[in-house]
Amino acid sequence: MKQIRHLKTMQRWALDSKRTSGKVALVPTMGCLHEGHVSLIKRARKSAGTAGKVIVSIYVNPTQFGANEDFSSYPRDLTRDLNICDREGVDVVFMPSDTSMYPDTTEKEYSTYVIESSLSPKMEGKSRPAHFKGVTTVVCKLFMLTLPDMAVFGAKDYQQAAIIRRMTSNLNIPVKVIIAPTIREKDGLAMSSRNAYLNKEERSQSPILIQTLTEAKGIVRSSPDQSIQTTKIQSILKARIRTKKLAKLDYIAFFDPVTLQPLDKVCKGSHMALAVYFGKTRLIDNIRL
Ligand code: PAF
Repeated sequence: MKQIRHLKTMQRWALDSKRTSGKVALVPTMGCLHEGHVSLIKRARKSAGTAGKVIVSIYVNPTQFGANEDFSSYPRDLTRDLNICDREGVDVVFMPSDTSMYPDTTEKEYSTYVIESSLSPKMEGKSRPAHFKGVTTVVCKLFMLTLPDMAVFGAKDYQQAAIIRRMTSNLNIPVKVIIAPTIREKDGLAMSSRNAYLNKEERSQSPILIQTLTEAKGIVRSSPDQSIQTTKIQSILKARIRTKKLAKLDYIAFFDPVTLQPLDKVCKGSHMALAVYFGKTRLIDNIRL
């Protein structure tokens, strides 16, 4: 397994590989890999084939964190990540540095960002205003540096996946965006590097996210015409979340799965997402109803 830190080395490898190898699949990550990431790597291998190459990027991207968010405390464990990548048969791990990705922002040397303006302002974008500008910018840069044929993202970050799809299509980037299913703990909590922040009591209450999503699906499917007013289902679900004293709801949203437009009436096939705080830890999840 190759470890590449320099941008030019990565790009040279990618250009050579385009000439000589089969397909290249990229799995962009912020490290602290867990079984969810492993499933993305396996999906990437399946898409690239045995003759193809799998690249995992490990980069905690500063531009997608707000000023009061967890950039400096975000969990990092490179030795463990490299072992996992090696075990999973990854061909290249790309680990750029902040100074190479965003050279001296104070001297305004770095001044180019990618902004998706329609899907980004809602939900996560409302709670984390600069987040998606950072995500689209870094994903675009990673695409330019690794030149993949396809890239695999997790369905847990539903809005992120929709935005990356939109960006790739709008900017005619020749990368196939693959969305792989959410991997869950035994009690249904969606796997996330941020789960490591939860203390014992918070962890025990955290399945409230999947329980609320599942309850919503049950309500919709058992309602007359399999549809219900958004305000009505919202108040039932909010009451459910209030039963967990450590859970503080950020938002519950019901929306069209493609346009992400909010819905007045929720029906079978609508999408639901929610974000819940446990202390400072913010967890997200989503479901097709
Ligand atoms: O989902 C993530 O881990 C990050 O947002 C991504 C896509 C790697 C960009 O930094």
